[in-house]
Amino acid sequence: MGGVLLNFKERLKEILTEEEYSIATFSYDQIGNIAIIDLPEELYHKEKEIGEALIKTIKPITTVCRKDGIHEGIFRTQPLKVIAGINTKVAEYKELGCRFKVDVEKVYFSPRLSTERERITSMIKPDERVLVMFSGCGIYPIIFSRRSPAKEIVGIEINPVAHEYALENITLNKCKNVTVYCGDVHKVLPTLSGTFDRIVMPLPKTAHEFLNDAKAYSHKGTILHFYAFEEESTMPEKTVETVNEVIDGKLISWAKCGPNKPGWFRICVDIQVN
Ligand SMILES: C[S@@+](CC[C@H](N)C(=O)[O-])C[C@H]1O[C@@H](n2cnc3c(N)ncnc32)[C@H](O)[C@@H]1O
Repeated sequence: MGGVLLNFKERLKEILTEEEYSIATFSYDQIGNIAIIDLPEELYHKEKEIGEALIKTIKPITTVCRKDGIHEGIFRTQPLKVIAGINTKVAEYKELGCRFKVDVEKVYFSPRLSTERERITSMIKPDERVLVMFSGCGIYPIIFSRRSPAKEIVGIEINPVAHEYALENITLNKCKNVTVYCGDVHKVLPTLSGTFDRIVMPLPKTAHEFLNDAKAYSHKGTILHFYAFEEESTMPEKTVETVNEVIDGKLISWAKCGPNKPGWFRICVDIQVN
């Protein structure tokens, strides 16, 4: 990546004035064929050239989008604008040997969580029944199915577009032990029977609103993977307290999953239910 970034920076030097270069951002997220960059408004008039420079520098990238707003709403999606290359927002992405198709504007998707997904996958034990609340395009359930000894994986997702991609991705990866439901966790979960050995809750902003649902579908020994945003000085204690207000359990491990705003991180606490 270092050398690639250097080439991108060199190309930008040819396109931008010194002043423009000083405010340019060089980081981007790559989701297979699509790169997403965060451009300052002052550079919008050169967005096409900047996008084309990125396409010339990195082979698999054939489309560059710039962020056109923040992640918001219940679906946690982000408006994007195609600024260069093929006019599509549908990415084809590979992670841990699994293939995914996803519209990166209509569905929440983050390639930055791949290490975290691998971490959870490695914790799954043979024959577990796993629930993924907020399953998006199916990335956690499908990786669990292909890369862990779980017996059964259930996903619940409220965004119908994400759910359709999850169904397509389940077929694409020939997963036989994954079932996904489209709807609100609060409403879908009560229609399911039995409890889960592991419950993943990747909705850091509001996962606390679903702790009672998780409690109702846990048993002694169930492991919860609860995501939250927390300030560096208090993590993970505050998040553990949030969980313990509803569920009696002990912290077995936790992980920092990347920065949020300055001084804050997305974290995951792994709590074993008592
Ligand atoms: C941060 S995204 C995570 C998606 C996916 N797990 C991933 O990592 O790509 C959170 C997801 O939760 C979904 N969501 C939000 N509220 C929900 C609810 N009440 N029931 C089910 N899904 C919900 C959103 O539509 C969004 O796709």
